[in-house]
Amino acid sequence: MSTVLLLNGPNLNLLGKREPHLYGETNLKEIELNFKKLAVASGLVADCIQSNSESILIESVHTASSKGTEAIVINPGAYGHTSVALRDAFLGTGLPFVEVHLSNVFAREEFRSRSLLSDIAIGLISGFGEKSYDLGLQAILAYLQKNK
Ligand code: DQA
Repeated sequence: MSTVLLLNGPNLNLLGKREPHLYGETNLKEIELNFKKLAVASGLVADCIQSNSESILIESVHTASSKGTEAIVINPGAYGHTSVALRDAFLGTGLPFVEVHLSNVFAREEFRSRSLLSDIAIGLISGFGEKSYDLGLQAILAYLQKNK
């Protein structure tokens, strides 16, 4: 069975408590559980990792690649706006990924409109709250069906 990885970056462990007007009231455990259920219903297995550390996120991409994980759904949090190293991890492994954000990053501060990942992602989903993760998984599914 194909495995997909859900990777969440810094401060996303605070979901549910963190700026709920922007990020909603659902916590990360609930989001991960829902993602796993949807994955299983689609014939996939999902691993879920959250870290506040850039190096752990990078190592998670490397490990996913060496384990044969098919694709990644990533909410990079603020590292999406800043991390050349995370970009290089995706370029270096060639792992296909979808970038997701809960909030609409284009409707916020200017610096959030810049992503170092979007142009090398399969695509970007932004602004649908917790549903962004479901849409990310659907996008991965469509990609895997087309590219297998
Ligand atoms: C976010 C948007 C980022 O700009 C921010 O730094 C986050 C959350 C989102 O899901 O909307 O941590 O990735």
